[in-house]
Parts: sequence; structure tokens; C-alpha cells
Amino acid sequence: MPPHDEVVCVVGAGYVGLVTGVCLAESGRTVHLVEIEPRRLERLSAGRCPIHEPGLEEMLQRLLAAGRLHVTGDIAAGVRDAGVVMIAVGTPPAEDGEADLSQVHEAVASAAANADRGAVIAVKSTIPPGTTASMVASRLAPGFPLVSCPEFLREGSAIHDFNHPTRIVVGGDDRAACERVAALFGHLGAPVIITDSTSSEMVKYGTNTFLALKISFINEIAHLCELTGAEVGAVADGMGLDPRVGRAFLDAGLGFGGSCFPKDVRALEAAAAEHGHSFWMLKSAIEVNLMQRRRFVTKVREALGGSLDGRRLAVLGLAFKPGTDDLRQAPALDVIRHLERMGAAVTATDPAALEGAAPMLPDTTLVTDAYDCVRGADAVVLVTEWPCFRQLDWRRVAGSVAQRIVVDGRNCLDAALLTGLGFAYHSVGRRALLPD
Ligand code: UDX
Repeated sequence: MPPHDEVVCVVGAGYVGLVTGVCLAESGRTVHLVEIEPRRLERLSAGRCPIHEPGLEEMLQRLLAAGRLHVTGDIAAGVRDAGVVMIAVGTPPAEDGEADLSQVHEAVASAAANADRGAVIAVKSTIPPGTTASMVASRLAPGFPLVSCPEFLREGSAIHDFNHPTRIVVGGDDRAACERVAALFGHLGAPVIITDSTSSEMVKYGTNTFLALKISFINEIAHLCELTGAEVGAVADGMGLDPRVGRAFLDAGLGFGGSCFPKDVRALEAAAAEHGHSFWMLKSAIEVNLMQRRRFVTKVREALGGSLDGRRLAVLGLAFKPGTDDLRQAPALDVIRHLERMGAAVTATDPAALEGAAPMLPDTTLVTDAYDCVRGADAVVLVTEWPCFRQLDWRRVAGSVAQRIVVDGRNCLDAALLTGLGFAYHSVGRRALLPD
């Protein structure tokens, strides 16, 4: 009997594969989730979530118990009876920024070697434009249609994003195969684009790199705001009201981190260079993003009168953004190392990322409680805009710090409240505000 699309195999239980597998099982499919990393496999089999994604662990446990989700380390078992095999393994950056495709190649070849005739192999991993076409040309999966099906999930809101897609994109030579893959998401009511595989891959890279460009652009505007006396919040609001610009991703601050934007910008730049194209705008997006961290460290130093030597700094936030424990390319790591190199003693806290940060920040004092973190500090430095930091009892903080200085790297704190409590308030893209 040909395999049925009611059974889906997802290969790779990382941020993308695990969310995709759990949400497809939630939608009624039977999902075989393949994970070869032993520790991660053990945790998943025990119903424990290896990533910090709100609501995911409860869904994982419920769907495992209901027998709708099966976790295995054996791809042969995973692909059995599956109508669609979804590849969601990692594509980490190599030294030169190029995407390392070895895991994708290995997973596609293993799937093809074990899948039932009639199955479709869909690559959800983020892969450079032309990758699927070259895998087809090199007959990596003989006898199986191979299509691209990129994901657009944000960490920290991945379940929401899965269930509220702005579009479903599938690309491949075999239209029927593409339609079968698109049908897995049909219940979500999003517009569907079915195209060739290279265009599908380009949609993913084009989206992520454009968003990264947009962030670097507003950060350049923010720097100019500081030089001219403009206020970047009002500027972003004014720009964002133009529907051609849009307000989203116009928040000035410490710039982008995470496992996607930095990797995808470099990977597309490398892919362009392979085709003899110097994608200067991507080079600029990367440069501005790195510059933004250096500018911020300078801002902290200037807020303290020009020297950080012997100063005690309290850093609020380590994860690359709120809602996750992910520290990959997190601005906090660069900023803290810079501050320490300039002689500061840093104490830091984060609601989710402390454990992961400890081995990366050997000279930093890590504490779980924000009030312990700020005690005796010469300045409070906000790096990740966790809601709990905005909701702190800042009057209590004012009575606890050595100097009432705040440097807000995400423009997320209440400036009027802080200056009213006697803080000097420094932020990104605005003039410093002195205490009332
Ligand atoms: C991103 C894309 O949004 C998602 O569609 C894709 O599938 C994966 O990459 P993610 O990296 O999880 O998702 O986080 P996102 O919320 O997009 O933020 C990315 C980075 O940009 C974060 O470091 C964030 O702090 C920063 N950012 C975001 C800004 O600096 N300013 C903004 O206005 C928005």
C-alpha cells in the first residue's frame, strides 16, 4: 500500500523540526520524529523539551501519550509508512559563512534509502538557493520527488507562528508533490505559493536578510538621531505608518542575534559571491550590526564618565531576545566581554539563559534575582527586553544601586519613570535624559 500523507516523518528535532512535528501531530497527523543526538533523543522520549519554547513541552507530552507523536533515533523506522518526509536538520555556518549542508545531504540520502515508494521528501532546513536543484541533479534521492518547504518560525513564538503562517511556500519540479506538502498546512488557511525549488529557497533568504537589513537600517538612522538630536522612536513610528515601510522590525537597539539572521545574512552573501555577485548591502547589514554593539559599549563607558575601570555593572538580559534561552550570537555575550576587557566587574541575570551562559562568561557573576544583580551597581545595563525587567520595582532599584544610571540597549524601559526616580537614562537613538 502506498504511504499515506496522514503519516509524516520529521527528521531533526531542533527548534524547527520539533515545533513542526508537534504542531503537525496536534493538527491530527501521525508524526514520526527522528533525532539522532542521544541526549536530545533521551530527553524527548521522556517528554522533556530540549528547547525553551512556551507551551511546547505540554504539547509534546500530550501527543506522545496520545500516540500521535513517536520519537525515534532510527530514520528507517521514522520514514516507514510516511507519505511526506520533512528534513529539518541544522545548516550551521562554516568558517567563511557558507551554510554547512552535510547534515541535510546525509538526511536526504538516508530518507531516500529507507522511505516507502511514493513518499515525498521536503527540505524545511534553511538551505542556499539552488541546493534542492543540485541535490535533484546529483540524484541524491533517486525515485523520490524532492521539494523545498521553508519555515518562517520565530523563536519564542514558534507555535503561534506555525499556526498563523503568513504564507506557505513550496518549491519543486513535481507540482503534485508540492501540493501534497502544501496540503499538510491546508488547515491553516494561509496563501500558498508553489514555485520552483530555487525560488522557494530564495523566499526564505530574501525574507530573513531583508528583515536584518531593516534592523541595521533603523540602527543607522538611530545613530544619526543621536548626532542630530532627533528621537528614533518618533522617527520609527512616523516611517512605519507608511504601509510600504511598516513599523515591524524598526526597533532600534543592540541589533540582531540568534541562530538565523546572522547565519542567513552571511550564507546568502557567500552564495552570492559563489555566483560572482558582491552583495554589498548584506556586507553592510553585518558590519552595522557588529558596530551597534561597539557603539553601545562606548555609550556605557560615556555614561560613567569615560572609564569603566573598577566599575560595577549590572547587566539585565543574556538571551538574544526575550522568550527564549538561546544565546547564539546574543549581543549580551559580546557586550559583557567588551565591558570586562575595559575593566568593569559585571553581574548579570536572565530568566531563562543563565545555565547556558555560565560556561561562556567565566569572569561574570551570574545571579537569578534581578534585585541581587543591581545591588551596588554603578550602572544598570539592559540588554534583553524581557518584560520582567520593565516590570521591576525601579524605586527599590533606585535605593539599591551605587549610582542611578541606566543604559537601555532595547529602548524598552520607562524613561519618565526612571528620570523621576533620579536616574540618568541613556538609550539608543535619543539624547541622554538627566534625572528630574
Ligand atoms: C527570525 C525570523 O523572524 C523568522 O521568521 C525566521 O524563521 C527565523 O529568524 P528569530 O531569529 O527567532 O526569527 O527572531 P526575531 O524575533 O525575528 O528577531 C531577530 C533578531 O532581531 C533578534 O535579535 C531581535 O532582538 C532583533 N530585532 C528584531 C531588532 O533588533 N529590532 C527589531 O525591530 C526586531
